[in-house]
Amino acid sequence: MSRRNMTYVCQHCGGASARWQGKCEACGEWNSMVEEGDGLGGVAGRPAGPGRASRKGRSFKLEPLIGENHEAPRLPSGLPELDRVTGGGFVRGSVLLIAGDPGIGKSTLLIQGAAALARLGHRAVYISGEEAVAQVRLRAERLGLGDAKVELAAETSVEDIVATLSEGPTPRLVIIDSIQTMWTDGIDSAPGTVTQVRGSAQTLIRYAKKSGAAVILVGHVTKDGQIAGPRVVEHMVDAVLSFEGDGPHQFRILRAVKNRFGPTDEIGVFEMTGLGLREVANPSELFLSERDLGSPGTAVFAGIEGTRPVLVEIQALVAPSSLGTPRRAVVGWDSSRLSMVLAVLQAHCGVNLGGHDVYLNVAGGLRIVEPAADLAAAAALVSSLANAPLPADAVYFGEVSLSGAVRPVAQAPARLKEAQKLGFARAVVPETGADAASSALALNPVGSLVSLVSDIAARGEKSPKKRRPQAAEDE
Ligand code: TYD
Ligand code: MG
Repeated sequence: MSRRNMTYVCQHCGGASARWQGKCEACGEWNSMVEEGDGLGGVAGRPAGPGRASRKGRSFKLEPLIGENHEAPRLPSGLPELDRVTGGGFVRGSVLLIAGDPGIGKSTLLIQGAAALARLGHRAVYISGEEAVAQVRLRAERLGLGDAKVELAAETSVEDIVATLSEGPTPRLVIIDSIQTMWTDGIDSAPGTVTQVRGSAQTLIRYAKKSGAAVILVGHVTKDGQIAGPRVVEHMVDAVLSFEGDGPHQFRILRAVKNRFGPTDEIGVFEMTGLGLREVANPSELFLSERDLGSPGTAVFAGIEGTRPVLVEIQALVAPSSLGTPRRAVVGWDSSRLSMVLAVLQAHCGVNLGGHDVYLNVAGGLRIVEPAADLAAAAALVSSLANAPLPADAVYFGEVSLSGAVRPVAQAPARLKEAQKLGFARAVVPETGADAASSALALNPVGSLVSLVSDIAARGEKSPKKRRPQAAEDE
């Protein structure tokens, strides 16, 4: 390849430059520019091929909008939690990216998925670029999948892979583990670089569209949470699922980040066991199984993930700070949402946490995005500050507005029903929209955060054995 065709591509954001630079102008990352041939990338992702530069176009047939197949034909995988996230199964000819930290269990999930599909009588192919065939086989045997007719290979050349797959009947599912290990001819850079990842993905996507096989690409996430071969694959594929979990917990959560054929708010919950991933059909039971009853600073939030209600414990710790700027640490929730709730507590309820460190944690490794969690978070924070445990049989939900009002949220009946199913007796809910007749739970409607705070403070005063070191001065 001539010098003229080389460009410098940022491995962080994919930005290209004609000269080497210490700092990427696009994203500001240092030392991320790598020299790459412009095989695909230089000309905005056009496929490489013989005579690409001066080829005369060929005409193609245009299709009517109303065609034979109006509905995307789906193939359920046999793992209901996986199907829930994809929107009902793998769509023919679609490409799906599963992204996650190394070691989170992507390979385990996919070999289980491939085996489940193969057991239903479909052709499933698993191509590993990271492990030898014997290693994949060994794992499958340990998982009790030894009898499933999954076809295996350890390969990294996408041209060879596509040529092999094009022989014989079209597989229904092809798993490529991982896209970072794949390389394609005609691109001069190393596997794992932006250009190679993009080029390999493009070839595999073209194969999927042409053959009708569903292709799953595995992508490792870099330490700052980006999908390596940054984002370039994300916008090319039909669906992006992220597989998450938090260190010590055995729970793994599969979440759709993008889905052209289904919803993006569904989660699938799994538990990593010695025998692989076990599907968790009722996540609330799991998330509440380690509850520490009767300690201050915990509140149960009745949330909705997609179509499914999920109960989860929100834990808060408020402690006097020795730092000039007190700490604010959040796991599983939005930190700007926490700042907002703290500001509302201070401005409207007289709860000043300016001199306190605040820690907030969502139990079980779940990440909550719903504003409906505001009320539960506020209750946990005030409970910790006042050293007053909240009633163990109560759930909380409601959105807090900047004025301190508690706003109604969607799907209240589903939340209440789930709470009732799990043995809760009361619910602290927004005043507007609370319909006592429709629920078997005792409802405690709150119109504003002020009344929630005074309720909790009153509980603190009633429990004499608890010391209330800071709360009295602060409220
Ligand atoms: P793996 O699927 O290899 O992760 P990834 O492909 O995302 O890098 O999973 C590796 C981890 O999962 C490893 O730390 C061990 C654990 N594990 C189990 O706990 N039980 C099992 O049955 C299997 C197969 C793995
Ligand atoms: Mg793996």
